[in-house]
Amino acid sequence: MEPKAKTPRVFMMKQSKIADGCLRVGVFSNGYCPMNGAKLPVVRAIDGDDDNDTRKAKDASFEREILMTPPNNSELCVTLPMRSLTVEEYAEAFKSFLDHSTEHQCMEQFNEKDLPSIVASLGNGKSTINVLGVGSGTGEQDLNMIRIIQAKHPAILINNEIIEPNPQHILAYKETVRNSSDLKNVSFTWHQLTSMEYEKQAKEQNIQKKFDFIHLIQMLYRVEDIRSTIRFFHSCLDCYAKLLIIILSGNSGWASIWKKYRHCLPPTDSGHYITADDIKVVLEGLGLTYQVYEFPSAWDITECFIDEDTVGGHMLDFLTGTKDFMNTAPHDLKQRLRQALGQPECSTKKDGRVVFRNDLSMIVVNS
Ligand SMILES: C[S@@+](CC[C@H](N)C(=O)[O-])C[C@H]1O[C@@H](n2cnc3c(N)ncnc32)[C@H](O)[C@@H]1O
Repeated sequence: MEPKAKTPRVFMMKQSKIADGCLRVGVFSNGYCPMNGAKLPVVRAIDGDDDNDTRKAKDASFEREILMTPPNNSELCVTLPMRSLTVEEYAEAFKSFLDHSTEHQCMEQFNEKDLPSIVASLGNGKSTINVLGVGSGTGEQDLNMIRIIQAKHPAILINNEIIEPNPQHILAYKETVRNSSDLKNVSFTWHQLTSMEYEKQAKEQNIQKKFDFIHLIQMLYRVEDIRSTIRFFHSCLDCYAKLLIIILSGNSGWASIWKKYRHCLPPTDSGHYITADDIKVVLEGLGLTYQVYEFPSAWDITECFIDEDTVGGHMLDFLTGTKDFMNTAPHDLKQRLRQALGQPECSTKKDGRVVFRNDLSMIVVNS
């Protein structure tokens, strides 16, 4: 039997092939990154002609070696893979983000200042108000809003339905409800579904349930088709009803970072780097009328600038949607991203701390 020719394992790939899911280096959403340009060294997983386990094991350790050993030849410089956060990792990172930011406090300000008058007309005198939360997470913001509706409509019955795909979030939401004594006259129904699955189910079963208040809070980044999602949920509004969308403002630091660096980051599940500016375009395209309320929100990201800092590392993971960004991103990208984070369009400096602009837009769409 002829000895097998040694398979070349490291080679340059044409730009047009970069987006096909190379396994060992950063995968960019459109195949072009201003940091790296089109020239990406790629190590490919070998498949096809392996005929025994020893050979496979050798291949695996060879690949590991290439990945882990800093090579002398810069042309062969391969980093560990850059990849998106999984659903669980994202949920974890989001929790930590909430702990270090004023995101929920910002929503609280909106709840106190503007929400009471927005919900005052809901239901137009009906004895029941139907509320639908989409992507409600663990429900803190939902329940705060329910309390405001209760305060504005004392003794009214509230049917609260929730669409949330993450079972852990649903469990935590249920636990909070169990421990809340002030939610009398409120019924809860959870649908463990994505918004699209719910829409499909409703259409298949010909359910045309109408709601008085529907909210999509910090979740549109993850849906498959933003326009059709908004159109569908708007069609579920009853008369005198409101659709509330809370999303990052076009003036937030996120908008600035995404503009410059989204092409250097691994795609999120759906790859939507959107802000209120994009949503306004969608709403206008659909011919819907709306009001926007802008609220500043802050996120202390000082630790992002400290090398090897665990909290800072997690923050950068959440900012970039990348698992272990500091250990997987190219050196240049890390440097330039940190530099950008310190610029005035992204952050302000206060008492030696760096505070990221996490400003939110509350968009209230009329039925
Ligand atoms: C950033 S969290 C926001 C949670 C909550 N609304 C808040 O503001 O605290 C996004 C939520 O959307 C959910 N989600 C992700 N993809 C979704 C989809 N396609 N449809 C509905 N919910 C989704 C996630 O499980 C998560 O709970």
